Amino acid sequence: MKIPLLSKINKKIGLDLGSKTTRIWIEGKGVVFQGPTCMAVDTLKGTADSDKNIIAVGAEALEMEGRVGDHIKVIYPVKNGEIYDDRAIKAYLKILLNKWVGSTLMLNPIIMVSVPASSSQADREIITEIIYDLGAAEVYTIAQPLAASIGAGVPIADASGSFFLHLGEGVVEGVVISLGSIIALVSSELGGEYFSNRIIFFLKENFSLNISKSVSEEIIRDIVSVNKRNSREKMIGGQDNKTESPKEIMISSVDLMSETLNLMSKTEELLRSLLSKMPPELTVDVIDKGLLISGGLAKIDSIEDYFVERLGIPVTVVDNPESVVIEGIGTALEHLDQFKTSLGYGE
Ligand SMILES: Nc1ncnc2c1ncn2[C@@H]1O[C@H](COP(=O)(O)OP(=O)(O)OP(=O)(O)O)[C@@H](O)[C@H]1O
Ligand SMILES: [Mg+2]
Repeated sequence: MKIPLLSKINKKIGLDLGSKTTRIWIEGKGVVFQGPTCMAVDTLKGTADSDKNIIAVGAEALEMEGRVGDHIKVIYPVKNGEIYDDRAIKAYLKILLNKWVGSTLMLNPIIMVSVPASSSQADREIITEIIYDLGAAEVYTIAQPLAASIGAGVPIADASGSFFLHLGEGVVEGVVISLGSIIALVSSELGGEYFSNRIIFFLKENFSLNISKSVSEEIIRDIVSVNKRNSREKMIGGQDNKTESPKEIMISSVDLMSETLNLMSKTEELLRSLLSKMPPELTVDVIDKGLLISGGLAKIDSIEDYFVERLGIPVTVVDNPESVVIEGIGTALEHLDQFKTSLGYGE
């Protein structure tokens, strides 16, 4: 009698631990948290190994970057979609889950977390172990592009393949999905963080302007465009590279076009290598149905135009490209029995 009662109260929780943004989904509530994957540690108290030394997480921690005393260190515990500091991520999750999941955590929830499709078995075991330690009764990992395609409403169980590109902050993955599984995969780290760094370097070299990462992200969001005809301008503030005095310059989409096209051509190369890996019988289906793009970087203005022209297939950016991963995790959790058997991603 104990088991059915327990399974009734095992709430389901979804986690998208992105290099830039963490998202939490709770059964019956939907997405309850979305914030920067970072934490502020008071180094006078100790290291990020213990949640007791962490004074803020998420947006509050990000605000502290460069604005508080030297003893406060802002840490980003996920790099390129992988946990690079497992003790820090455990402390971070403990704080986040206590705050947003609260007492549900005491009730041994079922937790599903997204990981890069290219993650190793060892990396999946690390995050699984951490989440068990935090009190989960069952832990599942799901490949990020698979979660994204579920979230975008792709009928993943179809035998005809789906061609999907996910463009995140630290992970870029192209997949072909058929009969509920990823059957071909390509992966790179040339996502938002790489693009931001390229823009920072470009402005330093060509305009003698040093800008922060957050300014480079504003540039990507507000003026970068793949289409010359959609050129936009923005006044950018930073420091002169030589004098270090404050400096402002006007930047346009056209100024950044070489960097934008550089990123696009690298992504195109990745997709072409995926197409070459695909079973020939699926190629026709994929070309017919076209390419779907998700992830925050999919919001680059006119990104579809580039791939339509270069690949000659239909291209669509999914609705809400940044949130399809967490939405897909939610859907997979709501239909856990169906997805568990068809995807076989249980650890
Ligand atoms: N409107 C926008 N236009 C262009 N790029 C955007 C826009 N909004 C966000 N981005 C970019 O999206 C990226 C973040 O995407 P996303 O939230 O999918 O990453 P993540 O899940 O945190 O990281 P990852 O999955 O790669 O570990 C950032 O690089 C950001 O600059
Ligand atoms: Mg992501």
